[in-house]
Amino acid sequence: MTTSAPRDPDLLRELREPSAAAGGVFWRGNHQLMVFDPDAAATAHADNFADLTMPDRLVDLLRRRTSTPVSWKTVRTAWLGQLRQLSGESGLAALDSRMAEVLHARAGQHVDLPWLAHEVSFRSLLPVVIDGLSARDEALIIEDALIKLNRLMRPPSDDAPLWRSPRRLSIALRAGLVIRRELRRRARRRALPRPDLTEPIATELLDSLGMDRALHSVAAALTAIAGPPGATAANVMYALVAYPQWAQRLTAEFAGLSAEELYRTGTRCAPVAHRFVKEVLRMWTSPTMLTRSARTPIRVAGHALDVGQHYILSPTMAHHDPRHWPDPEVFDPDRWLPGAATGPTGGQHYVPFGWAPTACVGAGLGTMAAVLLCRLFCTTFRIEASHPESLRVAVAAIALPLDFDGRITLRERANAGQPAGFDPGVPDPAAGRLFDPYVSLGDSPRRDRA
Ligand code: HEM
Repeated sequence: MTTSAPRDPDLLRELREPSAAAGGVFWRGNHQLMVFDPDAAATAHADNFADLTMPDRLVDLLRRRTSTPVSWKTVRTAWLGQLRQLSGESGLAALDSRMAEVLHARAGQHVDLPWLAHEVSFRSLLPVVIDGLSARDEALIIEDALIKLNRLMRPPSDDAPLWRSPRRLSIALRAGLVIRRELRRRARRRALPRPDLTEPIATELLDSLGMDRALHSVAAALTAIAGPPGATAANVMYALVAYPQWAQRLTAEFAGLSAEELYRTGTRCAPVAHRFVKEVLRMWTSPTMLTRSARTPIRVAGHALDVGQHYILSPTMAHHDPRHWPDPEVFDPDRWLPGAATGPTGGQHYVPFGWAPTACVGAGLGTMAAVLLCRLFCTTFRIEASHPESLRVAVAAIALPLDFDGRITLRERANAGQPAGFDPGVPDPAAGRLFDPYVSLGDSPRRDRA
């Protein structure tokens, strides 16, 4: 593994020095307050989102009247209930099977491994957000997600904004229509109830939210699974290759564990894998920065922000702040052992899932998905990187392993680690074809999509 090259993307390159000089809170130009100090970030975010009332509906804005107020907390509470169910034994078994199926279908191909991680992650999480779509509707949702993912995966560029590209705009609109139709169908009870995040929006909250806010909620969940979970999967894969001694420790742990035990007890029965995933999430955090606008006048470490002005948070900066992390640049899963000298100086300095009160609702499921993926790679599949010596991770919009192409192959005696009840069926081939241009490299060397 090499350190990053000077030409590698690094969104934070120009910001680290001013941040250290200013104690983590400073203006970039007149419009953006950088709030990199994790304690200031927690306070600013809590103050800004103390009132989580959703914006009025478009139709009411046009008619100059106010909508029924709905708190975003209501949506989050409904989702947390569904996610508890989806993170239970059968939910995890199904998620594990979906991940294994996508990997199985790609086994032996020369692939862009970070893109494969996004494919595995998005396709296996899609039914958690919206399940039971027809192949045609699912394809529209995937196409829309691919546009967003492609922007995240490329070095920063001055692409036209989404709304100025007719093709992208048309895909986004058609994906919106798919969600709208599904919400209506479920609200009229014309579809079987599904334990996904769309269900409570359609069957419990649609009347109070109205269609546009309901659609916005489901679209927000789809955006949330198109990025950070796939980036985490890519960095888990990177760490398994770059730190073979850790891959061995995980393999030893999984050798004594059945899939069923893992589904039943979660991370408790796999403490080494849990520490490994926590450290991957600290070391290579996604997204690198979160931009938020002030909903109300707030003061952040002595700086005043007016309504509409932007502030930027960075979980990445929080996780590499030497004031709070001994040896922050060292990948050391054992820092998560109770009482470790290299552990965090406070829980508020570890924020891979963002800040309250809008922190990720899928943190538990996302962590478990990463642990299950570790297990698949330590028991069933093997990652064969083409250039292990030149691997490194760039600080792009998400943490992005570079020069990471290769193959996934099946281990001999693969059955030992297959998900319980796994039948290597063919996952929807149409969905796979949509990912092909990004994932599959054929016999060519790794393509540069900059
Ligand atoms: C390891 C995987 C994941 C990571 C690193 C991650 C990270 C994040 C981050 C940083 C945020 C922004 C929080 C903020 O605004 O302060 C977020 C929000 C969100 N995430 Fe995740 N996430 C992951 C997995 C998931 C999964 C599996 C789901 C659902 C199935 C999910 C659903 C959401 C939703 C709905 C939000 C919006 C929350 C809100 O605005 O109130 N995430 N996530």
